[in-house]
Amino acid sequence: MIRFDNFNPQYNAIKPEIDEAVHRVLDSGWFILGKELEAFEKAFANYIGCKYCVGVASGTDAITLSLMALGMEGGSEVITSNITAFPTIAAILHAGAVPVVADICGNDGLIDTAKIERHITKKTKAIIPVHLYGQSCDLDKINEIASKYAIPVVEDCAQSVGASYKGKKTGSIGKINAFSFYPTKNLGAYGDGGAITTNDEELYNELLQLRNYGQRVRYYHDRFGINSRLDEIQAAILHVKLKHLDSWSAKRRELASYYRSRLTSVTCLEEHSYGEAVYHLFVVKTPKREGFMEYLKAKGIQNLIHYPVPMHKQKAFPLYGKISDDLYPESNAFAEQIVSIPVYPELTLEEREKIIETINSFAG
Ligand SMILES: Cc1ncc(COP(=O)(O)O)c(C=O)c1O
Repeated sequence: MIRFDNFNPQYNAIKPEIDEAVHRVLDSGWFILGKELEAFEKAFANYIGCKYCVGVASGTDAITLSLMALGMEGGSEVITSNITAFPTIAAILHAGAVPVVADICGNDGLIDTAKIERHITKKTKAIIPVHLYGQSCDLDKINEIASKYAIPVVEDCAQSVGASYKGKKTGSIGKINAFSFYPTKNLGAYGDGGAITTNDEELYNELLQLRNYGQRVRYYHDRFGINSRLDEIQAAILHVKLKHLDSWSAKRRELASYYRSRLTSVTCLEEHSYGEAVYHLFVVKTPKREGFMEYLKAKGIQNLIHYPVPMHKQKAFPLYGKISDDLYPESNAFAEQIVSIPVYPELTLEEREKIIETINSFAG
């Protein structure tokens, strides 16, 4: 069986470093908002190429807190992609705003920049491009639209840590940017975790309070906040893993380019020359999806769909059942054809070959 995710080989490869970091924290007797978090935040900000980083409890919270810092009011609208993980939408709702989704491009699954402007109203308070599957959105085009209407951009980098756009890392270009360290992510914690990056000192100071019950100093609450902190153990683990991230990303890219050169019976997504993707997921398209997924499963290759339901068709979406399907032709077609196949750096050469040969032998 080739698993879709397999965490053990990575842990075994860096076990002494991880175990040392975990024991260091246990021995210190300090578990929340301490030196480990400070050190990781500094290293992560430096890695991304931003002045500030704030560690938080999850990627969802990273988006929620970013929007809270920007100041959402009842009725504020936030535009994002119709194909994303539902947490992007949940975070917008948690921040008290209304999610508005734009259609995508069928060749890459990313928000269609030509379809953003039609959703902008006087109530639009942020645009969240989602760097899906580890690819960067076309941030110049998005920034151009955002600047025209003076709307801040919040990059959703949950899947794109380490990816670049025109030489800059994703998460260094938007006003505030959100990362997830959920275990499956390219930089995965051993539990939940997230981070926010920004170059704006005022927003940074606001975020430090917002993640800590709105405290300015202990027990003095200047504003309404939540409890969302990246704990010391996860920060120490992530700091170790950050040092390996670029080599893992290089392996993902190498595997992706091998897949591209060898896969014949499916369509691969378009690769953009404006940046370097980090292949959080490798997604292929096939019109015979059901049979394809069953075939792979029968041959012992786990596979998944990211994501089977466009946001406007999710029951928890505020406008569920009231929004015209005609607005989302690309999202609808895309969601019916996509399949994600295993792409992690620890896949062995035999496993890679088996995946390619199995896929190429699928006749439909
Ligand atoms: C695109 C995207 N945004 C946001 C999130 C939320 O991150 P988390 O699971 O850490 O809350 C995820 C991960 O599930 C994601 O893939």
